[in-house]
Amino acid sequence: MSLQPKSPSHSVSGHFPPVIKKSHFWNRLRQRVSMLYHYLLGHYRLHKMLYGFALSQALYVTAKLGVADHLSQGSKTCEELAASLSVNVNGLCHLMRLLSKTGIVSVDKKGHYKLTALGSRLRSDMPNSLRGTVLSIAEIYPAWGNLLYSLQTGKVGFDKTFQMGLYDYLSQNAEANTHFNQCMEETTREWIIPSLALCDLSNIKTVVDVGGNTGMLTTMILKKYPHLETILYDQAHVVNEAEKILEAAQVANRCQVIGGDFFESIPAGGDLYIISRVLLNWDDVHALQILKNCHAAMGPSAKLLIMDFVLPNQGASAYELISSLQILILSGSRLMRTEEEYYDMLFKAGFHAPHLIKTGGMISFIEAAVE
Ligand SMILES: C[S@@+](CC[C@H](N)C(=O)[O-])C[C@H]1O[C@@H](n2cnc3c(N)ncnc32)[C@H](O)[C@@H]1O
Repeated sequence: MSLQPKSPSHSVSGHFPPVIKKSHFWNRLRQRVSMLYHYLLGHYRLHKMLYGFALSQALYVTAKLGVADHLSQGSKTCEELAASLSVNVNGLCHLMRLLSKTGIVSVDKKGHYKLTALGSRLRSDMPNSLRGTVLSIAEIYPAWGNLLYSLQTGKVGFDKTFQMGLYDYLSQNAEANTHFNQCMEETTREWIIPSLALCDLSNIKTVVDVGGNTGMLTTMILKKYPHLETILYDQAHVVNEAEKILEAAQVANRCQVIGGDFFESIPAGGDLYIISRVLLNWDDVHALQILKNCHAAMGPSAKLLIMDFVLPNQGASAYELISSLQILILSGSRLMRTEEEYYDMLFKAGFHAPHLIKTGGMISFIEAAVE
């Protein structure tokens, strides 16, 4: 059957009576009232939440395609962008319209898209780039499909999704590993470094950065405190990438890089042991083992500084609760730890006098003494 009009009288320009009779004003008003009605009934709010994943994927695709890098030299139409990115033009035009609603780009009347300050954080060449974070979180995202599984079984949703644990997955997937490391670097820069001013490191000589990834925190500490030396300790395939970061910052001569397994042992010789965003990845048995190994490596006057998410007993933000659920998916039966839960583990590992230092940011500090 043809979908074409059968005769001129059925065509849009013919004498077919208009279906919409109401005036523009009344029609618009009716639409607004209807939208408000549905909003109040929860329809739109639920749909917006339900399609949160779509926004997340749109952000991922934008970062992955390098849209922000392509717009860094000036505004472009979506057709020009689609040609330079070799992607479906209609799809990309829709994506760009969506991005303009979220504040990633702005669009002028001629259809030229321009990066906003927010969108420029997706550029790969900016000192405040968050592109690696977007890519890494989105690469872990399929594991959220097993939130129900983790809730019902207490098992690791990530493992069910990827058929292996997070760190095995990263060691076997070079690109995902690079993005994960970038995510760690970017969030160290944003969350941890600004809070370092709360610590008095004047009496410290050597810092051991346990699970220090590619050395972003170590590098920042060495740059900020010229009297310090550090030992960077992480898995061999991770610390391999640290040398170039340390050398670029001209601090490599004050850092000893050691590859190893913190479940086996942790290097001795530090006055301050930092464990930043490591314990959150592990259940109590494994986290306790890391703390015990740390305690065994530390001299009697050395101090421990945990830098991690600490879940408030009350008043947690939506972001903290989402992060806590992500921990459940990554580690199985456990959520983000509270202050009391950290203290409990620290006592079991042999530490004394733990106390919480609230930074006012995403990450809190917990200090503890060996004796
Ligand atoms: C979430 S990252 C935190 C990195 C860094 N401390 C920070 O705050 O940005 C956890 C780190 O633990 C390291 N890690 C995981 N298993 C390890 C192991 N068995 N031995 C040593 N390091 C390990 C990972 O390679 C990763 O760099």
